[in-house]
Amino acid sequence: MIKQYLLAPGPTPVPDEVVRAMAQTMIHHRTPQFSEVFAEAREGLKALFGTKNDVLVLASSGTGAMEAAVSNLFSPGEKVLVINGGKFGERWQQIGQAFGLQVTQLKVEWGKAVKPEVVEKHLKVYPDIQGVLIQASETSTTTLHPVQEIAELTRGGPLLVVDGVTAVGVLPVPMDEWGIDVLVTGSQKALMLPPGLGFIALNERAWARTEKAKLPRFYFDLRLERKNQLKKTTAFTPAVSLVFGLHASLEMMQKEGLERVYARHERLARATRAAAAALGLKLLAPENPSPAATGIVLPEGMDGEKLLDYLRERMGITFAEGQDQLKGKIIRIAHVGYIGAFDVLVAISALEMALKKLGHPVAFGRGVGAAQEILMEGLD
Ligand SMILES: Cc1ncc(COP(=O)(O)O)c(C=O)c1O
Repeated sequence: MIKQYLLAPGPTPVPDEVVRAMAQTMIHHRTPQFSEVFAEAREGLKALFGTKNDVLVLASSGTGAMEAAVSNLFSPGEKVLVINGGKFGERWQQIGQAFGLQVTQLKVEWGKAVKPEVVEKHLKVYPDIQGVLIQASETSTTTLHPVQEIAELTRGGPLLVVDGVTAVGVLPVPMDEWGIDVLVTGSQKALMLPPGLGFIALNERAWARTEKAKLPRFYFDLRLERKNQLKKTTAFTPAVSLVFGLHASLEMMQKEGLERVYARHERLARATRAAAAALGLKLLAPENPSPAATGIVLPEGMDGEKLLDYLRERMGITFAEGQDQLKGKIIRIAHVGYIGAFDVLVAISALEMALKKLGHPVAFGRGVGAAQEILMEGLD
């Protein structure tokens, strides 16, 4: 037997409380029992999004919520600015293009955050831009973009549409306070659920735009969804079991307290970064690292795929690999969702052993010790 540790930035581990909630006997969704659970869960999501607006629950992965944002807000040929600093920035561009928008891309070097002054310049050069599409946390490069500063630039101008898939529930993204127009996330990250739910909130400005937008939409018609969800139901059959799980996971997060949830993510991330430094390894995003996952650059010449295979097959540890040009060159260790201090120690200790196995000189315990120093802070 090899015990399994899921330490990739989604899907993330699902706590027992959530598993048990999802294992309940199936019920019909047009019933007072479902409505009650659904309404309570939707209320809980507002705190997570930092909004007084409705947070809609969709039966889709996070990409469905991203697509819903595009198809509900814009009209064919409209111009949007996509901040493309990784695979998920690229996804905004692909969705925009698939729906016939004129997509202007602002490409950002992988591992770097977009500079607000560059966005400002673009918005001046293209005053007809209707929307700015960005990631709060670009999971593929483990980088945070400065969403709060970008929101200052879009206030009263183009709609700011934020993919918060590995940010909501990981760090504060207070939608109303910052002036984010649309915020989306998915279930299989900080919400500690299996994949299958997408979430989206729009402010009043964005709701007004949904009335004018001319792109085709049916399953993801957010106006229809809102009408139903305000009545504690959904337009189509909801993912009933996942909604039960959502109710349980939000209860867990409320019990821990959101401030503590954010502090935990930040502490685990700092511990992982300190461990990498102690092992003489560079971070992929040293300047603006995301607290959802840490990208670590592997020693020159090391075969990253072999390392990850060894970790998974012999040690039961699943980290994430690098994508595209980073394939084989980096690993991503996640601390998003149901992850605690001792998962980080498992991760670092396994990394030390796997690096050594693949021929890299490692003084055992150096990374672990550096992480322990920081993790102690959470044990006062
Ligand atoms: C930042 C970000 N955006 C979007 C997605 C896509 O979400 P999904 O795979 O749930 O469709 C992911 C998934 O990892 C992500 O990390």
